Amino acid sequence: PRTPVNVTVTGAAGQIGYALLFRIASGHLLGPDTPVRLRLLEITPALSAAEGTAMELDDCAFPLLSGIDISDDPNVAFDGANVALLVGARPRTKGMERGDLLEANGGIFKPQGKAINDHAADDVKVLVVGNPANTNALIARAAAPDVPAERFTAMTRLDHNRALSQLSKKTGVPVSEIRRLTIWGNHSATQYPDIFHAEVAGKNAAEAVADEQWLANEFIPTVAKRGAAIIEARGASSAASAANAAIDHVHTWVNGTPDGDWTSMAVPSDGSYGVPEGLISSFPVTTAGGEYRIVQGLDVNEFSRTRIDASVTELTEEREAVRALGLI
Ligand code: NAI
Repeated sequence: PRTPVNVTVTGAAGQIGYALLFRIASGHLLGPDTPVRLRLLEITPALSAAEGTAMELDDCAFPLLSGIDISDDPNVAFDGANVALLVGARPRTKGMERGDLLEANGGIFKPQGKAINDHAADDVKVLVVGNPANTNALIARAAAPDVPAERFTAMTRLDHNRALSQLSKKTGVPVSEIRRLTIWGNHSATQYPDIFHAEVAGKNAAEAVADEQWLANEFIPTVAKRGAAIIEARGASSAASAANAAIDHVHTWVNGTPDGDWTSMAVPSDGSYGVPEGLISSFPVTTAGGEYRIVQGLDVNEFSRTRIDASVTELTEEREAVRALGLI
């Protein structure tokens, strides 16, 4: 039997954690041949809830689940981590300024980054889900100088999947026949879902849609504001779809993108497409052999340029703010 892969999940007792852990344990994260050991990190008051979830995981008798450890100490939870899913974060509460939010999250992601630096496995792959995801990933990465920077990523796969679904609805083409969609920038309302390079059933998506009014006034805002719409409808933020996207993100990173397609991941910029180096920004990426590459050479039109720049400006401001707070 293969050695289990250590998967650390933070915020394990939260709502995304509840939707995520069972799918990791049943083999959807890494595939049906890879046993996993779950390492759950929670804050002390939520340890008991995490233990309850662990009892349920036991009760599923998942053949691939080789064990579960629970801790409130990042140094323990990240010990030997091959995959780290950073889900737990400090939500914005009423009256909280952006600076307060960034500072509160710095208090979480800086020590977690350091614990990853000091204790994770050499091949660790990190996905930050907890918001503000891109900047939290930046903070964690800065605290982990011994880990290659490119291992720190943030999640825009939910936005990507939302965009796929909206485009499928508009064109009547199933999502399985849509390729090369891109989310650019920040996982926030400024994100830019780009269909100019996408294909629906083999045709260019922008040409197939041929409706710039829909693109600018419906598609982009629907995707960008979907999180708020879910909260409004469900009375709670997206959880199962976020967990599903986290599974997709890591599965694609490990197992590769199909030929002729790509996905969206927020990754440290190498300066591609004018995004300042080091910012963790969403790009079109291909993956193979457990590594990703930013797709090069795409022609960025004026419509796209303005929107990418606006989201990247927001990321730059967030970076300045955490720098001023001494978090990076
Ligand atoms: P939740 O509030 O239900 O759960 C968060 C959990 O994190 C709680 O159990 C809390 O005790 C735990 N936690 C807090 N600080 C921690 C720490 N220092 N170490 C370990 N655990 C800690 O929230 P939910 O719904 O599970 O969402 C989690 C995060 O994911 C939020 O920040 C949310 O905004 C974000 N999110 C991101 C999405 C994306 O597309 N990138 C999509 C949906 C949500």
